[in-house]
Amino acid sequence: MSDRISAGCGFLDELLHGGYELGAITAIFGPAGSGKTNLAMLAAVACADNGKKVIYIDTEGGFSVERLKQLCSNHEKVFENIVFLTPTTFEEQKKSIEKLKTLVDQKIGLIIVDTISMLYRFERKIGEESGEFNRDLSMQVAQLTEITRKKNIPVLLTNQVYSSFQSNGVSMVGGDILKYGSKCLIELVPLAGGKRKVVLRKHRSLPVDTEVLFVIVEKGVEKVG
Ligand SMILES: Nc1ncnc2c1ncn2[C@@H]1O[C@H](COP(=O)(O)OP(=O)(O)O)[C@@H](O)[C@H]1O
Ligand SMILES: [Mg+2]
Repeated sequence: MSDRISAGCGFLDELLHGGYELGAITAIFGPAGSGKTNLAMLAAVACADNGKKVIYIDTEGGFSVERLKQLCSNHEKVFENIVFLTPTTFEEQKKSIEKLKTLVDQKIGLIIVDTISMLYRFERKIGEESGEFNRDLSMQVAQLTEITRKKNIPVLLTNQVYSSFQSNGVSMVGGDILKYGSKCLIELVPLAGGKRKVVLRKHRSLPVDTEVLFVIVEKGVEKVG
């Protein structure tokens, strides 16, 4: 039995030596428009097309049925195999993740949270204590870790970034909580001319800082030279 599931795109499967790891959290991070939701949807399509169910927690309404139809030829079957949860507050997101325990069974092949930090960031701006939010986010990551490790179901998170002068680049929202909670970190970097770079930043068994250039096209994503 394979210990990976297909990422739904050839060059990512190659970069990850087969795809996303079963018993681990993978986080894709990058700025808005970098392609996080596209990669999340491609993973969902591959899993659903393979006859397994996907739980897709969409916190920012990024999932588009129109885009799904472009990404696969059999969108009805794919759609049937995706269970959507659409929290609109951080409290609802917390409940969605708590509920996962009761939803997971043999048929579930992938859990996606797109994006894990959207509502956290949004609500935190209103000025609440960040300590409480950090505790909640840690708890959510702990619950996802327990599910992925005990049930061997891969968890794919997407995450926002902000510019950081300290690290001379970008930092993830929810910083260390997500950095340490994820066994695999994948960074998306937008480049000129609609190109994007995908860089493997952390992995348990593969060399890091390997990268591929790609573009987003009608049918999905395509590697470019
Ligand atoms: N059919 C398409 N052809 C080309 N590019 C597309 C298509 N559909 C969406 N895109 C591009 O995908 C990008 C958005 O990617 P997305 O995965 O939503 O980013 P993120 O989730 O990181 O904010 C936009 O630049 C958009 O133009
Ligand atoms: Mg998105």
